[in-house]
Amino acid sequence: MSVAVSCRGVGKTYASRTGDVLALSPVDLEIAAGSFVVLIGPSGCGKTTLLRILGGLQAASAGWLALTPGADGRESVGFVFQAANLLPWLSVEENVALPLKLGGAARAARLERARALCGMVGLSGFERRWPRELSGGMQQRAAIARALAVDPALLLMDEPFGALDALTRTHMNQELERLWQASGATVVLVTHSISEAVMLADRIVLFSPRPGRVQAVVDVPFERPRRPALEGTAEFQAIAGNLRRMLGEET
Ligand SMILES: Nc1ncnc2c1ncn2[C@@H]1O[C@H](COP(=O)(O)OP(=O)(O)OP(=O)(O)O)[C@@H](O)[C@H]1O
Ligand SMILES: [Mg+2]
Repeated sequence: MSVAVSCRGVGKTYASRTGDVLALSPVDLEIAAGSFVVLIGPSGCGKTTLLRILGGLQAASAGWLALTPGADGRESVGFVFQAANLLPWLSVEENVALPLKLGGAARAARLERARALCGMVGLSGFERRWPRELSGGMQQRAAIARALAVDPALLLMDEPFGALDALTRTHMNQELERLWQASGATVVLVTHSISEAVMLADRIVLFSPRPGRVQAVVDVPFERPRRPALEGTAEFQAIAGNLRRMLGEET
């Protein structure tokens, strides 16, 4: 139902015209199967780079990475990017079903699954619409449904709610927690929002400025499901304040 992730000295150097760019210092990181991990750190510190390496979209230039599947042997990976990236010439349900089509699933079966996923992310009634007929938040929900289509054991999310307004974002955070708990997947999510990190994470990994290295690992002990009111508590604010200090943006 999920994978455990081990990184040992995983680093990345990009070759560019003006010389090599060290994007990510060697990172050691253990991610427990089924946990919700949030990566946070200054712009350019290598969060997207690490996520792409975890998802196999990009090779590391140093180190060693292991994904250990759980008892059911599932090791599929789902990816949600900052932009929804829906294909404009496909309906919402066809977009959601696309990974299944690429995997060779029959049309009837994949559309049935896509409709169920649309329901799960609150898009019932919009299955046959075009992406352009959906709001930004709805498009992002469709992108999440598409990532869930392969029933991923590892769900990688790169600032998935960055473009949304605060209210929609709070709602999406709750939905994501629910979907994650129902699926049992391991989630690694990148965000710039400290409150989103504290609201969602079991564990927050804080990166230093480029070239990123792990500066701190913070466990977030709150029980689940977490309610939006949690953000107003002293305990929540203490963790958020601590992170803010470490990020050097004390207010
Ligand atoms: N294809 C590339 N070629 C050269 N340098 C790159 C490439 N992709 C990223 N970089 C560099 O690697 C560093 C890390 O980039 P990355 O996109 O991983 O940062 P990030 O932490 O995701 O930043 P942000 O928060 O702004 O999204 C940056 O300095 C960036 O300029
Ligand atoms: Mg990034």
